[in-house]
Amino acid sequence: MSYVERLVCSKCRTTYEPEESPVMCRKRDFGRLDIEYDYDAVSAKLTRASLKSRGARDVWRYEELLPVRQKFAVKLGEGNTPLIHAKRLGEKLGISKLYLKDETRNPTASFKDRAMAVGIAKAVELGKKDVAIASSGNAAASLAAYSAAAGIRCHAFVPDDAAVGKIAQLMLYGATILRCKQEKEGEDATVQAMLQAVDESGYYPCPSFGPFNPYQVEGPKTISFELHEQHKWDETDWILAPTGSGCLLTGLWKGLQDLRGVGLADSYPRLVSVQPKGNQALTKAINKHLRFDQIVPEAYPESVASGLLDPFPWDGDSALAAIERTNGAGVSVDDRAIMQAVRDLAACEGVFAEPSGAAGVAGLRKLIREGVVGRDDTSVALVTGSGLKEPDKVMSMFLKKP
Ligand SMILES: Cc1ncc(COP(=O)(O)O)c(C=O)c1O
Ligand SMILES: [Zn+2]
Repeated sequence: MSYVERLVCSKCRTTYEPEESPVMCRKRDFGRLDIEYDYDAVSAKLTRASLKSRGARDVWRYEELLPVRQKFAVKLGEGNTPLIHAKRLGEKLGISKLYLKDETRNPTASFKDRAMAVGIAKAVELGKKDVAIASSGNAAASLAAYSAAAGIRCHAFVPDDAAVGKIAQLMLYGATILRCKQEKEGEDATVQAMLQAVDESGYYPCPSFGPFNPYQVEGPKTISFELHEQHKWDETDWILAPTGSGCLLTGLWKGLQDLRGVGLADSYPRLVSVQPKGNQALTKAINKHLRFDQIVPEAYPESVASGLLDPFPWDGDSALAAIERTNGAGVSVDDRAIMQAVRDLAACEGVFAEPSGAAGVAGLRKLIREGVVGRDDTSVALVTGSGLKEPDKVMSMFLKKP
């Protein structure tokens, strides 16, 4: 049984029945088809007591709040990542209650597995044979792994300078790799190429951007559910998320609303969006109180955090809402601060992150310095991707320039 009541376009409010299984608004307005659940029915099944007796410890533990039944799932062990009390790193940053949600432990070593597990389950349900993705690399590597396990062909549109570890994953998982170069200011070349392939070849789009696939958005919200179970919720003050397109924030925020909707929680932690200085359209919008339609894409994004370089935050509307409604914050950090966070995570906590995955910690350091995050606050930094994806960036810290 599905608990999805309807899907509603975030731009034009057109409503869709779940049976239609839409992926994009038929008006092609790049609205996200937000999925609404029957919270009353879910709350009868998904209770504190029922959760206690559930054995499953993966994304599918929260099946009632997912848009596809788990019988369609290809399971690689997505989700159920550890929450680590980072005492030594906390001490270095000047706080005692720092926790790391270590998303590098997912099957393909990034949080994107949560999204792609749900996205591919939907593709399986619909009998799709070809899926397409636009991605800086992590989401593509993840979709390729799930596609391989499901026997689906994966067509990945990635930037021409995508990280070597991510390309290696794509090759080994058997994806068709199409490298795209940004030619114009603010252009999202991989998305344009993916949309063209979707139109011309009928591929099923499954990027980790809400406007092009609403089902996968529901995967990352399980981070909020897990945190709720792993942590004293009332005491969680801040959750810091490295941000590119804003889809992760959208998922986290959706998860918080779901928890409240089904009566499992009555407070929201404050969500923080962390972007690199070289791609900070969303941070600017947050801090200047701009509306989504006022966001100007970054002309030519550049940062060591290659996973955070979407020129346009496709899910910026709900990312803005997430920050506003949780009384959160938006912060940008420079590459030096990001690499410092990579170093500190490894040296203090034994956690090996790629630069994009460490940006949340860099953002936290800045907010502590600025006095926004208090010394007694409880903070959860999401570590979203593994350092093994980009070993060259780690090596560059140790190799002297000629
Ligand atoms: C490691 C890592 N962290 C964070 C993000 C940002 O997620 P989003 O684009 O949903 O904001 C990405 C996106 O590719 C990523 O690869
Ligand atoms: Zn619409």
